[in-house]
Amino acid sequence: MVPISQSSFRLFHNLRVDRTQPYGLERQQELGGIRFAQAEAEITRWRGYAVTPLWTLSSLAIGIGIGSIYYKDEGLRFGLGSFKALGGAYAVYRLLSREVERRTGIRSVTAADLVSGKFWEITRAITVTCATDGNHGRSVAWGARMFGCRCVIYVHETVSAGRVAAIAAYDAEVRRNPGNYDDAVRRAAHVAAEQGWFVVSDTSYEGYLDVPRDVMQGYAVMVAESLRQIPGMRVPTHVFVQGGVGGLAAAVCGHLWERFGPQRPRLVVVEPENAACLFESANHGALTAVQGSLHTIMAGLSCGEPSLVAWRMLDEGADDFMTIQDAPAAECMRLLASGTTDDPVIVAGESAVAGLAGLLLTALDGQARAALGLTRESTVLVFGTEGDTDPELYKKIVGRDGAEVRQAAAASV
Ligand SMILES: Cc1ncc(COP(=O)(O)O)c(C=O)c1O
Repeated sequence: MVPISQSSFRLFHNLRVDRTQPYGLERQQELGGIRFAQAEAEITRWRGYAVTPLWTLSSLAIGIGIGSIYYKDEGLRFGLGSFKALGGAYAVYRLLSREVERRTGIRSVTAADLVSGKFWEITRAITVTCATDGNHGRSVAWGARMFGCRCVIYVHETVSAGRVAAIAAYDAEVRRNPGNYDDAVRRAAHVAAEQGWFVVSDTSYEGYLDVPRDVMQGYAVMVAESLRQIPGMRVPTHVFVQGGVGGLAAAVCGHLWERFGPQRPRLVVVEPENAACLFESANHGALTAVQGSLHTIMAGLSCGEPSLVAWRMLDEGADDFMTIQDAPAAECMRLLASGTTDDPVIVAGESAVAGLAGLLLTALDGQARAALGLTRESTVLVFGTEGDTDPELYKKIVGRDGAEVRQAAAASV
């Protein structure tokens, strides 16, 4: 059985990648080194921390004629439903600890110090803000509540009511802004400058780089976990990762590059056809924004402007860029929920499956398969970056809600 219907996609090989180039100190100051060690030490101490599952999709691997597929399932991360829990909340902690240190002269303020409430007088007077299409805002709101500051989140026109409610559940004020995600980013930055708030954005631009670096550093914890979970700690031959502003893909790229140098897995960045700013940037050899509605069911990937820090990493580190349509993403969600193969049943949201969809489409297309060097020996890692974070949309696409799918999964074990 062919696991996915044919659907058009675009694939672009990045000629700017020189695999002999070392990761280097300059890049390490952006992502990795001591910054990664700090993030890992901090986040793994947080209450509720647990390593998320890495599923082996053996039947699917056989179905597309490759060696193995490993799916890192972020649906349960800190109870927030996505890998974004690692990034925004960590950046809120870093920001508040810096502010407390600056104002009190105390050094090394830990997350536990903030949670204990001993600095609430300072932190409660601080407001953090950001734009989001759902998951990042939820993480920032959660971090703000956990570490004790005020939070205002901007969402754009088409963010669903369910996603808004999920953010508001962490006591954040949610404001809806006309336009798309990038308009909401500008709005949050504008109001923050006016009000003296702090922007905790997952995207970076000239003059605003430090906080998004912290966000990305948090994501790298997921990458490190997944590499430890692969049986025998085999290094994957390929990694397919989805891109919105590119922070996730760059965190993956940086971690693999720093760790494995020229032997690192081949990295394929996958985006929705309607919001392919990283693909277009690679194509033009320079950071490029795409315009328009950016509409896609993959809400987390609906971004028109790459993050500057992310782009600098991917420009020289990502091997391939591809775009996919919405249909294969929806098909992948149903496939993972179906339990029709011997593989585990997985609740995966719209943005979670883009990497997997990219793998299935290219592995089943002779030309793309050869171009990417996918063979029966390939070991592929994909990141299932969210669960059913938009429950209504999930039900509409899959035909059952996440709880029903999980029940069926439990019954089948
Ligand atoms: C579930 C999910 N996956 C992937 C991404 C892409 O991450 P980035 O915008 O850092 O590229 C997002 C972004 O919001 C997301 O929510």
